[in-house]
Amino acid sequence: MPSYAVIGGSRGIGLEIVRQLSSDSENTVFVTVRSRSASTYLADLVAKAKYRNIHVLEADVIDHLALKAAAEEMAKATGGSLDVLINNAARMEPTNLYNGFFDYEDGDALDTEFLESMSAFAFKVNVLGFVHSVNAFLPLLRKGSTKKIVLIGTEGGEREFVRVAHLHGMSAYGTTKAAAHMVVAKYAVLLERDGFIVASVAPGLVDVSATATGGSGQIWKEALETQEAKIRKEIPDFMFHAISPEDSVTTVLRTIAALDLSHCGKFIGHREQKAAQN
Ligand SMILES: NC(=O)c1ccc[n+]([C@@H]2O[C@H](COP(=O)([O-])OP(=O)(O)OC[C@H]3O[C@@H](n4cnc5c(N)ncnc54)[C@H](OP(=O)(O)O)[C@@H]3O)[C@@H](O)[C@H]2O)c1
Repeated sequence: MPSYAVIGGSRGIGLEIVRQLSSDSENTVFVTVRSRSASTYLADLVAKAKYRNIHVLEADVIDHLALKAAAEEMAKATGGSLDVLINNAARMEPTNLYNGFFDYEDGDALDTEFLESMSAFAFKVNVLGFVHSVNAFLPLLRKGSTKKIVLIGTEGGEREFVRVAHLHGMSAYGTTKAAAHMVVAKYAVLLERDGFIVASVAPGLVDVSATATGGSGQIWKEALETQEAKIRKEIPDFMFHAISPEDSVTTVLRTIAALDLSHCGKFIGHREQKAAQN
């Protein structure tokens, strides 16, 4: 009976990961959310789920003590083990997500996003949140059978993709995700000898507007379309379009199932995953 912990599964890709994993009665799925009461899409999923195999825990990833408490609560339910940790939580703002270095009003505005909002929010969530999640759940993972730690990564934080796709936007967010990919490499070298597989798996460009919060669905849709258009303008023959959370997660979960030691420390792009699965 494989056990999974999905960190940040209230909506978007994380919610779909929980949905697909919980559709198999053999799986036990633990999902952490910042706020149980605000996670209405997840509450709906739990209420309608075919099996009673989803367990919701509350923890903001910027709060390492809350993550430890969630891991302890989980340990009581599983007898102290966890097979797969999927770190999905990340913070993105649709209004400035796609900004490149030339898109800020001035140097102060750029600094504000890179230093203030990044350190207070995005860097703390996207990078340190991942570190704290791994540290909190590591004792359980050590007792698990598969020992997989997965970061939901992105091509937007990969140097080679940024170069080929001329992706000058997503500068602040991409920088935080690039740092998170480095965290994957660091944990890989720390844990590989203990039989762990630590990898970053990209979901592709995913339209998550249907589960966006605070009425921001339309803003997300417009931001996504602008981004797609920008990339097509740069590289007209570059097939790049947003996919549904369902399509994305089907591919991502197949990739996670197939991970072996050869993937330890690696970033696995979405196209690469599709190619391997065809
Ligand atoms: N969508 C894409 O095209 C795309 C492409 C490449 C990679 N990704 C990656 O995929 C992952 C999911 O993205 P998404 O598009 O599904 O985004 P999303 O719809 O905005 O969902 C983000 C999730 O992260 C959670 N989260 C944010 N801050 C948190 C915190 N401090 N503590 C705990 N949870 C927190 C959110 O919870 P709340 O509801 O509490 O805010 C939500 O569940 C991210 O790692 C992202 O970098 C996305």
